[in-house]
Amino acid sequence: MSLVDSKKMFEMAYKNGYAVGAFNVNNMEITQGIVSAIAEEKAPLILQISRGARSYANIDYLKAIIGVVVAQNPDIPVCMHLDHGDTFETCKQCVDDGFTSVMIDASGKPFEENIEITKQVVEYAHDHNVVVEAELGQLGGIEEDVVGVSQEDIGKHLTDPEQAIEFIEKTGCDSLAIACGTSHGAYKFKVEPTLAFDVISGISEKIPGYPLVMHGSSSVLKEFKDLINKYGGDMPNAMGVPESAIGEAAKMAICKVNIDTDLRMALTAKIRQVFSETPGEFDPRKYLGPGREAIRKMVKRKLQVLGCSGKAAECA
Ligand code: G3H
Ligand code: 13P
Ligand code: ZN
Repeated sequence: MSLVDSKKMFEMAYKNGYAVGAFNVNNMEITQGIVSAIAEEKAPLILQISRGARSYANIDYLKAIIGVVVAQNPDIPVCMHLDHGDTFETCKQCVDDGFTSVMIDASGKPFEENIEITKQVVEYAHDHNVVVEAELGQLGGIEEDVVGVSQEDIGKHLTDPEQAIEFIEKTGCDSLAIACGTSHGAYKFKVEPTLAFDVISGISEKIPGYPLVMHGSSSVLKEFKDLINKYGGDMPNAMGVPESAIGEAAKMAICKVNIDTDLRMALTAKIRQVFSETPGEFDPRKYLGPGREAIRKMVKRKLQVLGCSGKAAECA
């Protein structure tokens, strides 16, 4: 099977009440860790590449790695997606590079401007059989290339369901990333959050069958935070979205769930542990290997939360 877009995945995920995991990739070990879990669980897969990943790894390397994933896993539908494209030019470049799905994130722009940029991307992408995810509303958190609102303001920037319908109708985007209380990165909240499930149901009541996307969906698991801190790290106040809330959203109209931070933390915790317990070790395979294995276990756990284990065949 060659790379696929996400249409069939989202159709099945919506119909059968689960979500597809979208995992960020930056190098070979991260990709292998993700894919070994996916292959064991027979789940559909979205591998996403941010602008930061493009410039860190060089897109030709990432494309080659994903090419091997596709060749070695003929029964797994794999979608190659641009995460947080910021301009028409970036999205166009990714369409031209062979991505099967792109995100245009103009959510920081005024409503009308977001519509105009998204429409431009949709027109180009659809002409090339590529699907488009857009974003409306603003998440919290700050990462390398994605700036969000402050923790205190997350509730003020949730997606308005009425506006979402207008946005979808005017742009023709294939899926919409919404702000429903999640946040990017490891420092999402000061107290445990409650997601705004009414934003999700408010949109799905008005436009049944339409796939929604939830970014900032890492759970920042305590055991990994504790391991990082135990082995010399410094992440005392990290906090994420509870797995139970992610599972609830996955049963609703959320068809794609973005996870990066939890994979970063699994890898970091394991590498720190190896360095701490065997300070004489200097063979990269001796720490990247266990790190890759930690990612495999983390992704397996996520697939259970999202309910997409065993769903590869129906999405193909
Ligand atoms: O939401 C953004 C993703 O976690 C990617 O982060 O821009 O640092 O690669 P990045
Ligand atoms: P996390 O930082 O919660 O993993 O979110 C990742 C994300 O939304 C990528 O687009
Ligand atoms: Zn995101």
